[in-house]
Amino acid sequence: MTSPPNSSKSTSPFLASSLLRTPIQRVLARGQAGEKVRVQGWVRTRRDSKGVTFLELNDGSCLAHLQVVAEAGHPALRELAPVTTGSGVALEGLLVQSPGAGQAVELRLERVLLATPSHPEYPLQKKRHTLEYLRTIAHLRMRSNTLGAVFRVRDRLFHAIHGFFRERGFLFLAAPIITASDAEGAGAMFRVTTLDVETPPRSSSGSVDWSKDFFGKGAHLTVSGQLEGEAFALAYHDVYTFGPTFRAENSNTARHAAEFWMVEPEMAFADLAADRALAEAFVREVLGQVLEQCREDFALFEKHWEPGLLAKLDHVVKSSFEVMDYGEAVGHLETSGEAFQFPVSWGADLQTEHERWLTEKKVGRPLFVVNYPKAIKAFYMRANDDGRTVAAMDLLVPGVGEIIGGSQREDREDVLRERMREMGLPLEDYQWYLDLRRYGGVPHAGFGMGFDRLLMYITGMSNIRDVIPFPRVPGYVEF
Ligand code: 4AD
Ligand code: MG
Repeated sequence: MTSPPNSSKSTSPFLASSLLRTPIQRVLARGQAGEKVRVQGWVRTRRDSKGVTFLELNDGSCLAHLQVVAEAGHPALRELAPVTTGSGVALEGLLVQSPGAGQAVELRLERVLLATPSHPEYPLQKKRHTLEYLRTIAHLRMRSNTLGAVFRVRDRLFHAIHGFFRERGFLFLAAPIITASDAEGAGAMFRVTTLDVETPPRSSSGSVDWSKDFFGKGAHLTVSGQLEGEAFALAYHDVYTFGPTFRAENSNTARHAAEFWMVEPEMAFADLAADRALAEAFVREVLGQVLEQCREDFALFEKHWEPGLLAKLDHVVKSSFEVMDYGEAVGHLETSGEAFQFPVSWGADLQTEHERWLTEKKVGRPLFVVNYPKAIKAFYMRANDDGRTVAAMDLLVPGVGEIIGGSQREDREDVLRERMREMGLPLEDYQWYLDLRRYGGVPHAGFGMGFDRLLMYITGMSNIRDVIPFPRVPGYVEF
């Protein structure tokens, strides 16, 4: 094989270096003075003083930066000439005890393996930027301290969730993203089509002929993997699905996204009490784990975004959650003396202001509200014997409101069919779901937790747009 011209030049010191990269997190946690290391990352600041150059380097492995010192007269200094805030560098050097406070070691630069310039207009200069501004540079904002911390915690939370269910023997299934049934029966779905939107084929009555579409019928993005999860629970006992879900609700609020992640466990031979117990153990355990793993990041949220956050989360991990019947909750709201924007009486859906008052003011900790009126809940929830409520639960938390919605499922085929008819659902699309009741349809229950909502709650971010890498909300789809 002949080499392309110039290939001899490609044996840059970058490729030739025999040292493997050490993440900065490891350097700062375990690095020993005298150790030779190679680090790679992006320059947060550069300072030159009396011929000495100081760089603060971050590689995303932790919040803290590694201080790099290039001594006056060192030949490597020349190669650092193009380096400014935002530059990417690969550096080798010796760890030395740091005279500065806040870090045990710093890097005495020996060799520059790579130094890429960054344009002087780099939009993340050292000053503190607002979250609103950072949203406009979502492709760069993960290089800021706050968003860097949020997305690290997001990663750890994701793995803690999978770990929680794996440890308990739950089988994971990836529910389909394209679906033919509306899992919530609420109609807030995005259509998936390959038909020409300008001139779709029409039937003789003039309506769009979806039988000519890609799947031979109408299809949508899923709002929930629950129904498919139920099918799996009735074969594997305990299962969960965890993936993206989509809602075309035009809710332009700080806690609604059009694309968000939901984790949905489903258990066979389980009732609402078992469901609640699982939800509580789940929230407390994953939270405890992530708090443990990301102490430094949580300290930043506490300091800059929500004073008292750590005490709040610690309290959640250690204390049990409150449980309250919907009827009782409404009673408390009615006699609260608060001037709510939305009136509340038995039968009304709880609005965020009500949810927050209950969890923040009334009980001061996470709260399960159970047994909601059937008229405001989805078709699949099990009817209670009182004839007017269903075996539903919502978990409400301070600062956010609802983060979990769940229920025992209607396992009686005749009752479910009647309910679906009442609600005007197209029974032919749900025959398979009714089948699940017909063939060994044991009692079962599950819940859905909004992953992004939980992340808001634990990071103290008050807008869902700041915990989703590239958020999609009504009127906005960039990047
Ligand atoms: O209460 P929801 O609609 O319940 C379901 O979808 C059930 N199928 C779950 C189940 O029983 N398997 O949604 C569950 C959770 C909510 O509590 C909320 O945390 C989150 O999903 N969620 C949203 N998160 C962000 N943006 C939105 N638009 C959301 N809609 C719901
Ligand atoms: Mg809900």
